[in-house]
Parts: sequence; C-alpha cells; structure tokens
Amino acid sequence: MDHFEYRNGVLCAEDLPLSVIADQVGTPVYVYSRATLERHARVFREALSVLPRVHIAFAIKANPNLAVLNVMQREGLGADVVSGGELARALAAGMPAGDIVFSGVGKQHREMIQGLDAGIGQFNLESEEEGIELSALAAERGLRAPCALRVNPDVDARTHAKISTGKAENKFGVPIDRAASIYARLAALPGLDMRGVAVHIGSQLADLQPLEDAFVKLGELIAEIRVGGNAVTHADLGGGLGVPYRAGDVFPSPAEYGQMIARVTKDWDVTLMFEPGRVITGNAGVLLTRVIRVKRSSNRTPFVVVDAAMNDLARPAMYGAWHDFDAVKPTGEKMTAHIVGPICETGDTFAMDREIDALEAGDLAVFRTAGAYGATMASSYNSRGFVPEVMVDGTRFAVVADRILPEAITAAERVPDFLKD
Ligand code: LLP
Repeated sequence: MDHFEYRNGVLCAEDLPLSVIADQVGTPVYVYSRATLERHARVFREALSVLPRVHIAFAIKANPNLAVLNVMQREGLGADVVSGGELARALAAGMPAGDIVFSGVGKQHREMIQGLDAGIGQFNLESEEEGIELSALAAERGLRAPCALRVNPDVDARTHAKISTGKAENKFGVPIDRAASIYARLAALPGLDMRGVAVHIGSQLADLQPLEDAFVKLGELIAEIRVGGNAVTHADLGGGLGVPYRAGDVFPSPAEYGQMIARVTKDWDVTLMFEPGRVITGNAGVLLTRVIRVKRSSNRTPFVVVDAAMNDLARPAMYGAWHDFDAVKPTGEKMTAHIVGPICETGDTFAMDREIDALEAGDLAVFRTAGAYGATMASSYNSRGFVPEVMVDGTRFAVVADRILPEAITAAERVPDFLKD
C-alpha cells in the first residue's frame, strides 16, 4: 500500500497535490512519500519479528538519496553497500558503521580499506581471492574483518535474466559445492573473522519457491561448515522480494516471506541478515512528468511524448519493465497510446499500445513504482541533466536532490590545450 491517491480528482502524494510540486519544482521530478517509506520499512520489520535474531540492511543501491537513507536509519535499518560511494553515503546518513554490510563482486583495495577504517559490520566476500586480499589488508592494520562468504546456490530465481544472480553461470558468489572448503581456508587466515554465509539469487522475485530452494541449500552448507569445525553465527539471506508494478498484480507478502524463512531456518541458530531494496522503496516513489505533445498520424496509434526519458527512468528501456502510468488530473476519458520520451532512439519508449487516461499537451502524469532503481540509474544521455528528487511529508515537501542542469555537467569538461592551437 502506498500514499499516492486521488483526492477530489487530483493525484496526491500524501496530502499534497502533485500539481503543486510540478508548478514549484518543474518536471520531470521524482517524488517520494515519507509515510510510504516508513510504512514499508515497518511492515518488513514486523514480518520478520517471527524470527529470533534479525539484522536488516537496506540495499541502498535501490535508492541512495540521503533523505531516504535518513528515513531508513530512523526506522532502525542498516545499509547494504556495494561501493565506497555507497559506504560514504550510509555513514553520512548517520547509519552506525556496525550496521553496514559491504557486498559486491569487485571491491577494490581502497574500498576495503575504507570499510576497515570505518569499522563496518560485515564484508560479504564474493571469492576466495577477495578474502585473501582483505585478510592481508586487515592484518597489516592489526584488525580482524567480520566476514560472510557469499555462495552461488545455482538456483534459477525466475526473474529477468539481467537481474538474476544465483545461477552457476552468474558472476556472483562461490560455487556452493566448494564453499565449505573455501570457508575453512579463509577461516584459517589472519585478519578475517569468518562468521557467516550469504546468498542473494536475484531481484523482483515473484515467487518464494526459488528463495526457499536457495535457503535450504544454505542450511545444508551451514551444517557442513560446522561439521568441519568452523563457526557460523550469521546467515545473510539477501534481498529480492518483488513488488507489483501493475495495479492488481499479486506478489508474496513480507509476512509470507517471513513465515517461509521461519520454517526453513528454525534449527540454524544464527543471526539472520536481510538486504531488501525494492520492497521498501519501490512503491514509495513516482516519476512526475508533463506531456510535451501528443503526436497523431492518421490511423496510427498516437505517441504521447512526455518530458521524462530513458535517461531519467531506465527500467523500461533496460529490462522491458512495466510502470503504471496515470494522469494527475484524469478526465475519465481513455485513449490507447505509445508513451515515449524525447531521446533520439526507439528504445526511449515507456509503453506501447497502452490504454491510458486521455492526455493532451501540458497535462501531468506519473510513472508509478519509481522509488527503487529510478533516479539512481539516471544518466545524462542526450545532455539532459539529472532530474531532481522531492520528499513529501503530509502537506509539506522538500527538494532532497537538486536538478543538475546540463550546464553543470559541461562545466566539468575541458578542451585540452593541444586542441587550442
Ligand atoms: N543484495 C544484493 C547483493 C543485491 O545485489 C541486490 C540487488 C539487493 C540486495 C537488493 O535487491 P532487491 O531487494 O532490491 O531486489 N536495477 C534492477 C535491479 C538490480 C538489483 C541489483 N541487486 C531493476 O531496476 O530492476
């Protein structure tokens, strides 16, 4: 459930008509609802309250805006980070270092050192090589880095291939059949405190069964590691829970997810860790856009050309993703249209042959479920600059990320002297 609803015929974010934001900040603009962010964080936490020991680290790649992270921190969530930049953001948002988990297949030495210096809670190692390097860096500093070994369970998450991470051919984790021996070798190194295992099989999962299959395998691995004489006190079950992008779609609820995990992990005797992203922020944001014009050619489906484009919201172009599209002030009339942005490639298409609210030039509309993997995946392609972000709280709102104009991007570029003569 989210707090983007029609009141007196106008789509509002909480108690604020979206037209007010469009008038004051301009379009396109990402709009987040604080109450929805809080609600989703609480529902997720509540769903896991059936488990004995839990640590939730918000996957900040889904929405790294500092104001959003601040809400997460106030809700008691830590952070799952995948780069030095994300680590710095989590710390800047006030997240305690001990609540931060560092994931990612390509951690660089400077990033490992950044994590060690900050005293983060856990490194999720993606390979034996990475563990050996971290061991050396930590030992040099007289530290012991708390670590989990990420395993690849070879389970098909049955999601889009580009966001599937748990098949043997994917780059993530170590093969589960070699994991116990790798864990034992890493546990014997100085500078590492091998304390757990981690798994994340993919994102936007519509079905709990692949997760359950992966967790069952992880449980067997924990037993195998313990038989080998090593301790396992933590198990990181990753993120991945999907959200409905189309009104009426039904997804597994956080409560069902929590119950499945309680059943599968009942004998594990570990602290369970989670890295949810999309399920917390997805439906807490919309991309507000204005129709530039409606392009009609005789007897063909019209194109509704909006001022948002694939550089602002990449998901449709990148994954063929669906985002519901609704008018801010619907008239009750409908039309069938292609929804496109201004960028000069056909991939800049948000929807084809979609039945939508009838729109004309100047009308406002939203792409829903844009609070995860939206603004953060933006680029400046076609020299379009970066869209601002706004957070709404009741009837008030604040710009939580400025619009970055194309001029600001050009200002960072140089023509070298050798081209000046
Ligand atoms: N943990 C790890 C190690 C991850 O790689 C991810 C997401 C998450 C947690 C959070 O997953 P979530 O709960 O959000 O599903 N850009 C794509 C999604 C990429 C997900 C990458 N990893 C999209 O727009 O669909």
